[in-house]
Amino acid sequence: MSYTLTTPLYYANDRAHLGSTYTTLACDAIARHRRLRGERVTFITGCDEHGQKIQRTAEAAGLSPQAHCDSVSEGYRDLWSRWRISHDRFIRTSDPRHRQLVEQFFARVEASGDVREGRQQGWYCVACEEFKDDPHEAEDPECPIHRRPLEWRDEVNLFFRLSRYQPQIEELIRRPGFIAPASRRREVENFVAGGLRDFSISRVDLPWGIPVPGHTGHTFYVWFDALLGYLTALLEPDEPVLLDTILQRGWPAQLHVIGKDILRFHAVYWPAMLLSAGLPLPERVFGHGFLTREGQKMGKSLGNVLDPEVLLERCGHDAVRWYLLRDIPFGDDGDFQQQRFSDLVNSDLANTIGNLLNRTSAMARKWFAAAVPPAAAGADARHPLALAAGQAAETVNGALEALDFRAAAEAILELASTANGYLNEQAPWKAMKQPGQDAAVAADLYAVLEASRWLAVLLAPLLPDLSGRMLAQLGLDGFDSSPAGGDQDGAWLAAQHWGGLVSGTSLPEPQPVMQRLELDAPL
Ligand code: MSP
Repeated sequence: MSYTLTTPLYYANDRAHLGSTYTTLACDAIARHRRLRGERVTFITGCDEHGQKIQRTAEAAGLSPQAHCDSVSEGYRDLWSRWRISHDRFIRTSDPRHRQLVEQFFARVEASGDVREGRQQGWYCVACEEFKDDPHEAEDPECPIHRRPLEWRDEVNLFFRLSRYQPQIEELIRRPGFIAPASRRREVENFVAGGLRDFSISRVDLPWGIPVPGHTGHTFYVWFDALLGYLTALLEPDEPVLLDTILQRGWPAQLHVIGKDILRFHAVYWPAMLLSAGLPLPERVFGHGFLTREGQKMGKSLGNVLDPEVLLERCGHDAVRWYLLRDIPFGDDGDFQQQRFSDLVNSDLANTIGNLLNRTSAMARKWFAAAVPPAAAGADARHPLALAAGQAAETVNGALEALDFRAAAEAILELASTANGYLNEQAPWKAMKQPGQDAAVAADLYAVLEASRWLAVLLAPLLPDLSGRMLAQLGLDGFDSSPAGGDQDGAWLAAQHWGGLVSGTSLPEPQPVMQRLELDAPL
């Protein structure tokens, strides 16, 4: 069985921002954790390329929509590879194979009697690609999210009979765990309780979209086509496009990770569409919060957008991943604060974790022939650090399964603090000056190095690079949790065994595993 998880398919109207990077790297940590535990994973991301917003952006840039999307989606691919995102699939909804799948899906929905013609009147936000139910201002209403004027629409569209699915959707959203975190459920419940209304799934006069078969002049509403991208992505690139094949390729998905603004599409519209097409439903939809910067919404007009390219270049991905995953409870809104960012990275990663390894391995090299010292009592599974490590591993595994990155990071930090405390208490630098203490010092250093190895092991899903650098400092290979990784054989779980470090392994010259962040100018 494979574990299928998805990011949203990002609009190809603009480059990635910190919001899309946040979702993607959280999914990456989940995918890596599952792979490291020996599970088969299908991690899907990609670009949502149709619709009016993209058509207009392309026009403004003097490009054809296709050329524009080619370039934006290439930018995403490139950015994700530099962020070391380990996705298995990258789907583009302008792929001709996707069109075939959409046509097949629509044929089923139509055969279920769920498509009707109707008149669509209302205020539309092109940036959201969504009709707004009741704009507050009667005149010149604005989108509450984008603060841009809404556009009045009055056209004949095809509608999906969402109203028919009221009882099934009510039952679904009550299912424990379907909408996560639980705090987001209420909002969807209220929406559903208000009575589900049919929604329009086609547009007229919108050439940049997939034509609706049998309905000349109509193209699919971008959301109808975009959600189906999750299905197309599952097909092997060279196999015939047959909708039912997805059932052998990892559908239903175990997890959709999205931002809270698109919860309704994923928790209500999408399941109803799947029910209509006779397909099974995803198991969980997780709506994370929004990121602000120094307390303000990020936006181009405010000029305070955090560019993932700049962040990557100036800070490196370990630092950013750590800060976002450790500091913001996944599901809540979070505020990016530059000072806090560098303080946390420096104190947690450079000092508490990195320095522990550095100074311990420097002592081991100096006093024990540049190698892991003889273990003796240090390799005892009842050693206090062994117990602390076992406990940390249990917490990390459980927390990552529950998508509680913060709890996982805190458990890792706690183990690092315990190991630091132990080292300071034992003070091998003092003991070494007394005769006959070599064996005791060796055992203490062994235990602290072994605890550092555990820290590296436990960091592997969250910070794969830092984990690899730490293991290299211990003379060990890192874990490959990429799609092509060779660690799907349980090596990572097997490494969670006290005494894994082999005495006598030579220790390389210590190098700081984590650069301190010195951010003098604003990012
Ligand atoms: N194309 C649709 C998704 C279709 S899925 C079949 C879309 N794309 S998007 O590019 O506009 O947004 C992608 C994600 O970024 C959304 O989950 C949204 O919640 C998230 N974010 C946008 N701004 C954000 C922040 N400031 N903070 C965190 N996430 C934010 O919607």
